[in-house]
Amino acid sequence: MRIAFITDLHIDAAGVNPKGVDVRQNFLNTLAFLSELKPACLVLGGDICNTAGDPAIYEWVCQQLAQLPFPHYVIPGNHDDSVMVAEAFGRKHNLHDNELYFALPLEGRPTLFLDTSKGELSPQQWNWLREYMAALRDNNVLIFMHHPPIPADVTYMDAHDSFHQSEEFLDLVKGSSCHVTVVCGHYHVEKVVQRGNLMMLITPSTFVQIKHDPAEIEIDNYYVGIREINLTTHGTTSTVHYL
Ligand SMILES: [Fe+2]
Repeated sequence: MRIAFITDLHIDAAGVNPKGVDVRQNFLNTLAFLSELKPACLVLGGDICNTAGDPAIYEWVCQQLAQLPFPHYVIPGNHDDSVMVAEAFGRKHNLHDNELYFALPLEGRPTLFLDTSKGELSPQQWNWLREYMAALRDNNVLIFMHHPPIPADVTYMDAHDSFHQSEEFLDLVKGSSCHVTVVCGHYHVEKVVQRGNLMMLITPSTFVQIKHDPAEIEIDNYYVGIREINLTTHGTTSTVHYL
C-alpha cells in the first residue's frame, strides 16, 4: 500500500504569501504530483494553516482535496485548531475533549493518528495511546503525528519548538515489543532518526525547509517536499520527493 504524506502547508488567507512563497500554488502543485504518484491514500500532517486555525482556509483545502480519487486523513499541527479541522474534514466523531485522534488499519497495518497540536498529549490521549500500544504488542505500528516525538539534532527546533513529552514517548515505545514507525513533520527538514525500536521519518514541508545545525532559524531551500511510504509484505520503504 502506498501512502503519500504532506505536511506543514502553512496556507494563509487568499492572496497572502508567507515569506514570499505562494503556498496555495505549492499545495496545488503537490496535488498534481500525487496524480503521478498514485497513492492509495493521502495523510496531511498538520500546520495546514500558517498561523492559526481558520475555517475559510480549511474549506479551501477541502475543496481541492475533494477532487482526489483516493481518501485523505488529517492530523492537526500547532498552527491548527483541532475542532475546526475535525469540523472541516468530517472527523467530529474522532474528537475527544477537543483533541482529534483515531486509529485505522491501513492495509492491515495498525495505524494511529495523534493530536500534538498543543505540543503534548493530554492524559486522556496518553491513556488511549498506551492501551493501543499494549493491545498491539509484537506488531509493526505506524504512527502519524505532527511533532517529531524525540529530539532530532535540528538545533533550533529541538531547543525551542519540540514535543514536550519526549521522555514519556520514548519510555512507552521502549517498553513495547512493537516496531514503531513515526511519520511526522513540524521541523521543516528531511531526516531519519532511528533509536531502539523507534524509527522516525521527519518529512519536509510544502512551504520552506530550514537548516539543521544553526541555533537560529535559517532557510535552507524552497523545494516542496512530499513523503511516499510503502507498506509491503517485505517491509516498509519510504522516499521523499521534491518538486
Ligand atoms: Fe508545526
